[in-house]
Amino acid sequence: MQSLTLFVPDETAMTALGAQLATASRGHGTVFLEGDLGAGKTTLSRGIVRGFGHVGAVKSPTFTLVEPYELGAITLYHFDLYRLADPEELEFMGIRDYFDGNALCLVEWPRKGEGVLPKPDLTITISAHEQGRLVELRAGSSSGETWLGALAPVDQ
Ligand SMILES: Nc1ncnc2c1ncn2[C@@H]1O[C@H](COP(=O)(O)OP(=O)(O)OP(=O)(O)O)[C@@H](O)[C@H]1O
Ligand SMILES: [Mg+2]
Repeated sequence: MQSLTLFVPDETAMTALGAQLATASRGHGTVFLEGDLGAGKTTLSRGIVRGFGHVGAVKSPTFTLVEPYELGAITLYHFDLYRLADPEELEFMGIRDYFDGNALCLVEWPRKGEGVLPKPDLTITISAHEQGRLVELRAGSSSGETWLGALAPVDQ
């Protein structure tokens, strides 16, 4: 499946969708999270991180750019590139080591890293809709298509 759009009515449902994505991804790959300020990118990321059993806080790493998580056998990196001034800064961070295929990388504001970030397996675009959110998921690889196939029956 190439794409899927879901209506997600509230924060609880958003977190639950994150947990489903965690399971579908099996902890490997790259997910871009797009949408305006306050769209729900961090909320969905929190659901993914908690989906692997993390119980503590999940805050967006606005100032540090990346927050690493070791979740059992899974390594997850949560990026927030909102404050990235130049995509080249990612080169200085050693970006390739993060995206070596072993970890799951979640990237808020991926456009700030355009040209340096690798292609995502999944791009998620969140927009306000009524009291909730529309969440559009687009596969960018065969892995992403498999993830969407695993998600679809749950909500439809
Ligand atoms: N599906 C939803 N329906 C309604 N409200 C939601 C939903 N998902 C998240 N929210 C609410 O949206 C608000 C902003 O969420 P969040 O911080 O995740 O946005 P963000 O996209 O990460 O913003 P930023 O670009 O500033 O990092 C939170 O108050 C959260 O409760
Ligand atoms: Mg955020």
